[in-house]
Amino acid sequence: MAINQVPDHVPPEMVGDFSLFTSPGMSPTPNGDPHAAVACVHAGAPIFYSPCNTRPGRGTWVITRAADQRRVLQDTETFSSHRSTFASALGENWPMIPLELDPPAHRVFRSLLNPLLSPKRVTELEPTIRERAITLIEGIAASGTSCDVMKDFAFPFAVNIFLRFLGLPEHRLHTFVGWARDLLHGDDVRRPAAARTIVAFIDELAAMRRNRPVDDFMSFIVQAQVEGRRLTDEEVRGMGVLLFVAGLDTVATAIGFDLAYLARNIKDQDLLRSEPDRIVLAAEELLRAYPSVQMVRVAIKDIDFEGAPIRKGDYVSCAAMIANRDPAEFESPNTVDLSREANRHASFGYGPHRCLGSHLARREIVIGLEEWLARIPAFRIKEGTAPVAYGGHVFGIENLILDWS
Ligand code: HEM
Repeated sequence: MAINQVPDHVPPEMVGDFSLFTSPGMSPTPNGDPHAAVACVHAGAPIFYSPCNTRPGRGTWVITRAADQRRVLQDTETFSSHRSTFASALGENWPMIPLELDPPAHRVFRSLLNPLLSPKRVTELEPTIRERAITLIEGIAASGTSCDVMKDFAFPFAVNIFLRFLGLPEHRLHTFVGWARDLLHGDDVRRPAAARTIVAFIDELAAMRRNRPVDDFMSFIVQAQVEGRRLTDEEVRGMGVLLFVAGLDTVATAIGFDLAYLARNIKDQDLLRSEPDRIVLAAEELLRAYPSVQMVRVAIKDIDFEGAPIRKGDYVSCAAMIANRDPAEFESPNTVDLSREANRHASFGYGPHRCLGSHLARREIVIGLEEWLARIPAFRIKEGTAPVAYGGHVFGIENLILDWS
């Protein structure tokens, strides 16, 4: 089937005029708000077909209700996550592990990784995380009354923690961020080039750690055993690539959206500065309001779902940004309420693939906000500048220049 073509089994009345890639507000827009732009889908049906809802322009079914998304994400016998999204950029077909494996194989690898990012492990990392935040923010405060938050704080903070965890050299931070950005947001030339570079890097690192293991993630993986055997080269690569891609810019993006919100809402900013105990709850609400990841599954059998004839091979989108604005799930979903409790958001996904890094991500976001608000006085978006936000598989924000003069 040609890209953008609606398959014959999709009833024309189920085709919707909405896409996370092409709808207004989704392409990079100064002062854009791609999260608010998704709210329109809740006025319509619980499921519709979007003819262009992936980066290469494929159509997907779009699930608009949070409860229905949970049904899809839980039902791995009907909706598979094996899509080889990364490998397909190289014309290959290996899974990122554990994300693109279905149970029961998924469970084997997930149990191997769980202890590495458990709440206990994250508590041990906390002093390092806080020290990194303080060093960066004190440097920013000492050098003036304005900064580019993504470049000067969010990326160097989150990516540095992540590189230490993976055992990757910190001085190559900007190189790694560049690769991840080309991969996630680059065009048809940059994307496969970045994918090739990342694979070559992971393969080389794995070979080095096999020869001389140290105390890091890759050494753990190359020595690990599953079901009484060592991991294959392809499995090591699939895990290394996923961790690299999943952790590198997600936390930085979340911090960027949070600080943009606070810069535009001085009262909330003052409240959190004067009552920092509220930050944990507030960070959860900001995660709900500004999620970054769209989950996609592929149907592995025919199913009629809420009146939609989903057929084997169809893509099904469960976008956290849509679930998190579902009025059936959240009161006043388009209002940011920093005291919101019972916040069952979908920002870290749902079901067996629920984010492995969520404990680490949460601690980084909370510590980043605590230390920022403790050291930087009332800040706003710098006059004459406009942060650029965009939609897609992974929402993002750039050019966030803050000023506290
Ligand atoms: C705010 C930051 C983050 C957000 C919003 C986020 C979001 C998500 C989401 C929505 C999923 C589910 C994807 C799906 O079901 O298709 C996921 C899975 C995953 N995330 Fe995160 N993530 C974040 C940070 C991290 C970090 C820091 C790491 C690693 C240190 C990480 C590692 C993973 C892994 C390995 C998976 C796959 C889990 C599995 O398949 O069992 N994430 N993440």
